[in-house]
Amino acid sequence: MQKLIIEGKKELRGKIFISGSKNASLPILAASILCNQASLQNVPLVKDIFTMIELLEYIGLKIKISEKKNILKIYNNDKNIKTLAPYKLVKTMRAGVLVLGSLLTKYGKAKVSLPGGCAIGTRPVDLHLFALKKLGANIKIKNGYIIAEAKKGLKGTTINFPSISVGATENALLAAYNAKGKTIIKNCAIEPEIKDLILFLNKLGANIKISGRTITIFESENKNYKIDHDIMFDRIETGSFIIASALIGKKIIIDRINPKIIKTEINILKKIGVKIKIKKTSVTILKSKNLKPMKILTKPYPGFPTDLQAQLMVLLTQANGVSKIKEAIFENRFMHVPELNRMGANIETKNNIAIIKGPTKLMGAEVMATDLRASVSLVLAGLTAENRTIINRIYHLDRGYEFLETKLKSCRAVIKRV
Ligand code: UD1
Repeated sequence: MQKLIIEGKKELRGKIFISGSKNASLPILAASILCNQASLQNVPLVKDIFTMIELLEYIGLKIKISEKKNILKIYNNDKNIKTLAPYKLVKTMRAGVLVLGSLLTKYGKAKVSLPGGCAIGTRPVDLHLFALKKLGANIKIKNGYIIAEAKKGLKGTTINFPSISVGATENALLAAYNAKGKTIIKNCAIEPEIKDLILFLNKLGANIKISGRTITIFESENKNYKIDHDIMFDRIETGSFIIASALIGKKIIIDRINPKIIKTEINILKKIGVKIKIKKTSVTILKSKNLKPMKILTKPYPGFPTDLQAQLMVLLTQANGVSKIKEAIFENRFMHVPELNRMGANIETKNNIAIIKGPTKLMGAEVMATDLRASVSLVLAGLTAENRTIINRIYHLDRGYEFLETKLKSCRAVIKRV
């Protein structure tokens, strides 16, 4: 099994180009079932994307990958389509469940494996099913599969989500694409990745408008079946590298982003004392000293993202005073805490609150990655710590970070994979 070995305390300087967003690419790939031909640019070629490609190929789509250019060309001639997403392809990546909305709206039926829980929480799909039922789908659960049918097609309606879910909003949007009449989705997630999906669907001829937490999908007859789309930048990768720079950077430029989309994160980091200069498509992080403690609550966008909680926690171990992080999205997302404490951090958890007493000197240790974002927090800790850090189970990192070591090495980090 592969490991990462990091020799810590090497000051970083240089430029990092941010990849396309994994969390925007996954629903857009699921949406590509709806067209006949799509060319997607700026797709990060990480493990989760390859799993989604495998799933689409299983369903019957043809996909050409241009690895050098990060372009995917997707073809669907609507022949020999299997409206099935098997367990083996959904169990390792929950986003597989997003093909449900596309298959149902286009082919009138879908059988998709229940994704089950995962390390960070139970992660049910009740809200996805709630939305599809509202649109008129007939849904049964049998032998671990969601069996959905809409023989006469789906019907536009009002879906008022009892709580906010990114995935359920995406599935509702996909399902509403071919629904008869108008669909209004209330209390929906408004993550930038959802806006990217809406942009894609509108290119496909949908007529979707968003206002506050309400999305309206008007019935549209003018469908296009051949389109190009450029995937937005990865805001979580961006945040992870900004925090790496704040921890151990001398001067790092983080390029190919839109800083306006990560205003909340930038404002919080500035309050902590991180020196950030903002340009139109990049940010520069300068050596930051005297970091201040902070109270953080993770929230749906435009709040502070749960996907940056673990990385921010590493930064707060270096702040002067007591910080608090309340994780309000997932019930079990502090698995990085014992590992960070083994490296010298002083963090206590009580239910969904972590209390971080800083500053603490971090020391290299052998640690274990537990999920995608927890893993990258260990990389950040390893870069900051004295001596050598060995990170085991790095397959989690490969699910979501493209060229992580190469990007860090280009900024003089000493990191290798064995
Ligand atoms: C997406 C992101 C993930 C991020 C999360 C929250 C992708 C591929 N993944 O995951 O990186 O951490 O948003 O920003 O984009 N819930 C229910 N019932 C449901 C669905 C969700 O109770 O049917 C709960 C979840 O357990 C969780 C909360 O709602 O507590 C938010 O989850 P959700 O927004 O759905 O996350 P994902 O779409 O799975």
